[in-house]
Amino acid sequence: MPTKIEKDDHTGTETTGHEWDGIKELNTPVPRWWLYTFAVCVVWALVFMLLYPSIPLGRTYFAGLLGYSQRTAVDHEVAEIHQVHAGAMQRIAATDITKVAQDDELKTVALASGRIAFANNCQPCHGTAGSGRAGYPILADDDWLWGGKLEDIQRTITYGIRSGHPETRDSAMPRFGADGLLDDKQIGQVADFVLSLSGHAAAGADLKPGAALFADNCASCHGDKGEGNHDFGAPRLSDNIWLYSGDRAAIIRQITNPRQGVMPAWTGRLDEATIKSLALYVHAFGGGE
Ligand code: HEC
Ligand code: HEC
Repeated sequence: MPTKIEKDDHTGTETTGHEWDGIKELNTPVPRWWLYTFAVCVVWALVFMLLYPSIPLGRTYFAGLLGYSQRTAVDHEVAEIHQVHAGAMQRIAATDITKVAQDDELKTVALASGRIAFANNCQPCHGTAGSGRAGYPILADDDWLWGGKLEDIQRTITYGIRSGHPETRDSAMPRFGADGLLDDKQIGQVADFVLSLSGHAAAGADLKPGAALFADNCASCHGDKGEGNHDFGAPRLSDNIWLYSGDRAAIIRQITNPRQGVMPAWTGRLDEATIKSLALYVHAFGGGE
């Protein structure tokens, strides 16, 4: 039964003519702009469902007319990154290390690869970020056994130290005590002199005999004033940085029976580009020359 359209007294809005217990229903349709937006969204969703993977079909799904898959998209991106990286590593392998250091793009790739290779291969001995520990030199300071230039570090990593490789860095501090080259008294005297080089001589110690012994037996490798020598990997004894330990007993132990630390050779185990990356990474710790 058609009802007469009437207006609500309070709001001035038309009513639908429905009334329950004196409560009238106002006729307020959703706005036009809302309806249009809704329609556009429905159409958009339908088109999207057709083009892209959408409707599940039992064990499979409707793959969409464009044939798009996120998995292949990611695979493509990863393959692209690998290709760029492999290209850069090839160029690093073929480029002199000092030139790599001057090339911003190659250097960035090298430092990133070096960081990972260091964590995988070097950290167990040299500590996080080359912090070192007794017998394993700190790589982050500017005190170098075998030289801190890029080429020096590259050579050390490639062939190792006392590694057995034919090209290894090699030298052997004589076993002064174990081989009877010096007696206990002389070893004590030269140890006192070594301590004095870094200002740690015991008060009142007579340094003269030790100085003479040092000049005769030690200066050829460690230098007249204990300044060290990269050619022999002989540590500087005049600073307060110790490969082993700076207390008197440890110094006596070293003179009696030197440790002659071994660092493995990495050629053959790591490729050329990775070794260069490692040298750049170690050099960038802050102590490179
Ligand atoms: C098995 C333990 C060990 C591992 C692993 C090792 N090193 Fe060494 N490294 C040593 C020792 C020991 C020395 C010091 C040898 C000596 O007394 O001259 C050394 C010395 C060095 C030096 C010379 C430091 C200087 O002052 O001249 C460099 C550079 C170096 N290592 C880099 C590396 C890098 C890079 C790696 C990883 C690829 C690595 N090492 C892995 C034990 C290790
Ligand atoms: C042939 C060269 C050579 C001669 C000679 C030599 N050294 Fe060494 N010395 C080294 C090398 C290389 C090292 C480090 C590697 C190792 O032996 O572990 C070293 C290490 C040391 C260390 C340990 C330094 C540290 O930082 O912990 C002391 C101390 C030392 N030498 C004292 C002496 C004294 C004292 C003499 C003479 C009585 C002497 N050396 C003679 C090569 C030599």
